[in-house]
Amino acid sequence: MTVHTNLKGLRVAITGGTSGLGLALVRAFTARGAEVAFVARTPQAVARVAEATGAAGIVGDVGHKTDIHAVALQILGTLGGLDLLVNNASNLGPVPLALLADTQCEELEEALAVNLVGPFRLTKALFGALAASAREGREASVVNITSDAAVNAYAGWGAYGASKAALRHLTAIWAEEARDEGVRFLAIDPGDMDTPLHAQAIPEADPASLKRPEEAAAEIIAALGLAQPRLAPALEAQS
Ligand SMILES: NC(=O)c1ccc[n+]([C@@H]2O[C@H](COP(=O)([O-])OP(=O)(O)OC[C@H]3O[C@@H](n4cnc5c(N)ncnc54)[C@H](OP(=O)(O)O)[C@@H]3O)[C@@H](O)[C@H]2O)c1
Repeated sequence: MTVHTNLKGLRVAITGGTSGLGLALVRAFTARGAEVAFVARTPQAVARVAEATGAAGIVGDVGHKTDIHAVALQILGTLGGLDLLVNNASNLGPVPLALLADTQCEELEEALAVNLVGPFRLTKALFGALAASAREGREASVVNITSDAAVNAYAGWGAYGASKAALRHLTAIWAEEARDEGVRFLAIDPGDMDTPLHAQAIPEADPASLKRPEEAAAEIIAALGLAQPRLAPALEAQS
């Protein structure tokens, strides 16, 4: 694998970093020299990915209110600040997918907790650090991973689709409100990828017809335009 080191110094936190797109992002950012912390619920998988990538693994559930501040503290303690938060961890709602009439209220609540309220809580807990990054002249960004189910009304995707639609709109409002503080907010739909989440949702899909998560991760990095952490003019003048 070609290792690019052009993201050296960038401090990145990724939720859901042990599988699929999140794992591909952890690998892509560490391979490019970024300092990475990631979150997932399963301790063994967190330890395995941390060992393999050199990223800092944090065990936590973004859907649990009581985990959020501990996760945020570990992210900041490990990275010493934050330039990029990727809210990627996700809950499908009922599996197998179910019509809304057959969806339990608790399944909708869980999808909203993980896909909407969790990213909101974590962003709030880390916003001060992101704003400080922007004040230092660095590129401070939040990427919320959405889905085409956020804009299309697919039967059977009610809990997931409603949560992703809300996340997409929340992102647009964050973007307006955080502009003056210099923190960018982007909602990115990675497209249909060959991941465990997709296999759970559509077991009959042909993996060959799906995007590889590594490709989606590279597209996200390209969309961010993060060739190099931006330095303040004064610092650039010194370097
Ligand atoms: N795959 C697709 O085709 C597709 C299409 C459009 C959008 N997306 C979006 O892309 C993102 C990544 O999906 P994926 O397909 O890569 O999923 P995935 O392979 O299922 O990976 C999910 C990751 O999130 C972690 N996770 C799940 N629930 C969590 C929670 N409550 N707290 C913390 N970590 C949690 C999982 O580890 P643990 O289970 O150990 O916690 C795992 O690391 C999601 O936002 C998804 O909605 C995917």
